[in-house]
Amino acid sequence: MDKIYAVYNSRFNYLNEIKISPLSRAYTFSDSVYEVIPFCNSNLIAFKNHMNRLEKSCDALNLSLDINKTSSEILDLISRSKLINGYVYYQVSRGIDPIRSHIFDNSLTTETFGYVVDHAFKSQKLKVMICEDLRWQRCDIKSTSLLGNVLSMNDAKNHGCDEVIMHKNNLMTEGGASNIFFANNDTVFTPALSNNILPGITRELLINEVKNIGIKVEEGDFQLRELENAHSIWLTSSTKGLAQVTEIINLETNVIEDHNLFQKCEQIFIKKFLSGS
Ligand code: PDD
Repeated sequence: MDKIYAVYNSRFNYLNEIKISPLSRAYTFSDSVYEVIPFCNSNLIAFKNHMNRLEKSCDALNLSLDINKTSSEILDLISRSKLINGYVYYQVSRGIDPIRSHIFDNSLTTETFGYVVDHAFKSQKLKVMICEDLRWQRCDIKSTSLLGNVLSMNDAKNHGCDEVIMHKNNLMTEGGASNIFFANNDTVFTPALSNNILPGITRELLINEVKNIGIKVEEGDFQLRELENAHSIWLTSSTKGLAQVTEIINLETNVIEDHNLFQKCEQIFIKKFLSGS
């Protein structure tokens, strides 16, 4: 594997040469937030939106971050890597404790870490599993505490699936690492933002573009059973783009592969964000 370009506390290095303390609060408490920022044909996708969300995540945890420094580190990582398509993972933690303690010292120095890898968007058809949303009540923060997602997604993998669709009391929330969309004849539906959902950047970009071309988008509270009658279901994320759900192993569906509304949405997304024009 080629060397992976990384940056730790503003010092650039190869990923495998970075040493971190086991007392990093990212390690002991997941006291940290992150972003995944994609680029395609050397264009960053919604860079400002990602930086704004990172600032919001930091604010929610009361972490101080120099966002201009972070932005230039991300750009620098990409240019050092010479990659054309990929993403940057960037994580911000509260810092390193002198000894593990739930209560942190306000004087800790923020710890930052990022790396860049090759990644290309590709058309995907997903087999998914419905599962209960086991997570905490602040899923709107892009925190690295992802144990609920990790356990559910690996359970789904053991059932031959690629992703999960989570629900709380039968109301759908989101995917394990993605937001959910579904469509019937002429309307696109997606769960409304709440404390149970990450405000996905791909979700936001897609909603805006789809509305711009006159397709109706409804954000609301949706029961799982509404997926049974959907003509198309798809998941969105910065690494997946739009990925169709073609099978749900524990729910009867009537989806039509490559439904025209899905195709329209995918085409406008590709044209606007991935074609490099
Ligand atoms: N995850 N919901 C969850 C729980 C996610 O982890 C993600 C993305 C999304 C989609 O957000 P966005 O469109 O901004 O990528 C929704 C990233 C890609 C990850 O953890 O790797």
